Amino acid sequence: MVEREALRVGVIGCGAGEFHIEGFAADPRVKVVALSGLDGPRCHGLVTKYGIPHLYGDYSELLSHPDIDAVSLAVPNHLHRPIAVQALRAGKHVLVEKPLSRTVEEGEEMVAAAKEAGKVLAVAFQRRQRHDVQLVRHQIEQGRLGRVYHAKAYWMRRSGIPGLGTWFTNKEQSGGGPLIDLGVHVLDLASWLLGNPSALSVSAATYAELGPRGRGQWSGGRFSRVEGIPYEVEDFATAFVRYEGGTTLQLDVSWAAYTGHSDDFGLSLMGTEGGAEIRSKDYAQVGTLRFFSELDGTPTVTEPRLLTNHGHTGIVKQFVDSILDGAPPEPSGDEGLERVRLIRLIYRSAELGRELRLPEDQDA
Ligand SMILES: NC(=O)c1ccc[n+]([C@@H]2O[C@H](COP(=O)([O-])OP(=O)(O)OC[C@H]3O[C@@H](n4cnc5c(N)ncnc54)[C@H](O)[C@@H]3O)[C@@H](O)[C@H]2O)c1
Repeated sequence: MVEREALRVGVIGCGAGEFHIEGFAADPRVKVVALSGLDGPRCHGLVTKYGIPHLYGDYSELLSHPDIDAVSLAVPNHLHRPIAVQALRAGKHVLVEKPLSRTVEEGEEMVAAAKEAGKVLAVAFQRRQRHDVQLVRHQIEQGRLGRVYHAKAYWMRRSGIPGLGTWFTNKEQSGGGPLIDLGVHVLDLASWLLGNPSALSVSAATYAELGPRGRGQWSGGRFSRVEGIPYEVEDFATAFVRYEGGTTLQLDVSWAAYTGHSDDFGLSLMGTEGGAEIRSKDYAQVGTLRFFSELDGTPTVTEPRLLTNHGHTGIVKQFVDSILDGAPPEPSGDEGLERVRLIRLIYRSAELGRELRLPEDQDA
């Protein structure tokens, strides 16, 4: 048997980029050959820790490296499109952090660039890898919940603005607040579990009540607060979505709100034959799932014993499978684009203060 040469990967970004490096390091088919980032000490720390041979500053230097087959991007949201498109045109496969892009137009350009180049474009929705989520998906596929007619999804932080005054709270660089940052994860989970149905209408509201007054900074976070820079995005978003086939979704997301939550996300699915509920407090991976059913008319609750895993390892494996074995990318650029489409409709509905119906209001 001819031994295949390792896939040569470059990682751009030294924050969440470390999750990607860890994932690649766990895959014997891959070698991380280069890292790029502008924050010297953090990036130096990673090349030393993981034995990465090359460290570049700006991303263009890494992309001009001819031996790199694939790149993964963990950079601020406004850089997803330019770096991904440049990388795809340079013949490299791309794994991009969530959200795919800030806008639909940017996402469409990325998906088109991947198709033109014949390269893989995948998105790091790593929460799909959670054991609780995988079990729910399997139960739905087996028909055990019957027809799922309603879903509730939330990610609520009591005091979790990633960094007041950083790129996260700058609208131009981030494209939005907790909805595009955290909401995209639970929106992806709900959409994926429901079989990616098309939305028929969206009614939403957004608020910026704490952030603009300097409240709600995430004290345990990686970023310190930068004084004097305006807070430009929402700190809470709520939306109600109707899908084809009659399923509905209630979504609530906050970075900062006076609630009993600390940093919790979850998902409830109500089906005609059963229900499922995931409640993860402070990133818990076990003790988070319950299934609801009945036994001879008596309500039952099942709590599976769950395993923990490193989500990016699974995402990276699927990305590598897709490059090496031609498996369809999952989560794909197209799915990433659908999430951005829905997020933009939610923001637009909130701006207009009314429900948007599709396809009539697609360009409202
Ligand atoms: N999947 C997840 O759970 C998860 C978690 C955190 C962040 N993210 C996503 O990862 C992305 C980055 O977020 P973060 O928290 O790591 O931000 P961050 O600010 O900590 O890191 C951004 C990195 O990008 C680098 N960078 C910026 N401009 C660059 C350039 N021109 N060339 C090369 N490098 C450049 C910075 O130097 C830094 O290392 C965002 O899209 C965010 O949504 C995802």
